[in-house]
Amino acid sequence: MAKKFIAVLTDTTLFLQEWFANPQRTGSVAPSSRQLAAAMAHWLPSNPDSFVLELGPGTGAVTQALIKRGLREDRLVAIERNPKMARLLREKFPRAQIINGDAWHLDHLLRSRREPVESVGAVISSLPLLNFPPEEAEALTQKIRAVLEPDGNWVQYSYHLGKKQVRGAASFKLRASKIVWLNFPPARVSVFKK
Ligand SMILES: C[S@@+](CC[C@H](N)C(=O)[O-])C[C@H]1O[C@@H](n2cnc3c(N)ncnc32)[C@H](O)[C@@H]1O
Repeated sequence: MAKKFIAVLTDTTLFLQEWFANPQRTGSVAPSSRQLAAAMAHWLPSNPDSFVLELGPGTGAVTQALIKRGLREDRLVAIERNPKMARLLREKFPRAQIINGDAWHLDHLLRSRREPVESVGAVISSLPLLNFPPEEAEALTQKIRAVLEPDGNWVQYSYHLGKKQVRGAASFKLRASKIVWLNFPPARVSVFKK
């Protein structure tokens, strides 16, 4: 219990520090709540052999929920730009492929693995897309589209609660959407298909 409390405190402190250093990129002052993380993890691919790509895993709140829901650690590839967070994630999830890099280079980063990852069954993204210009968001989501399996889901949360607020989603079909109130701040989880 005490160990868990210290871990939560460490993650929250790191988030705050990184938010002060770069609010635009960090996108949040605190890790996601258990409720938000579980709502994201609900959309794992049905095939247990499919890879899952997580973008912007931060300190691993959503990652933890994905594993709890049954994702094998060795099927997870996560791209985190912040080096401190990437280091922490490697300690927490030693069998996952944690890449310290830019999600906008996901095509290149996935292809240059020792065993290249050609496609994924889901993209689980916590990237603060509204902090990026529309053309940049669109460039990223086209890369997501290219790597998703035909039935795959792109799951994205946003602190803007309106349904039409997901940047870069114009060429996707909305499959599901719901607001998670038990998070600071509340967030909308949107699920898209190609
Ligand atoms: C809102 S936080 C979410 C963190 C975590 N998934 C959670 O829900 O608690 C967004 C994360 O995206 C990361 N990030 C921002 N820009 C990125 C980029 N271009 N490539 C990869 N990660 C990025 C930030 O460092 C931060 O960890």
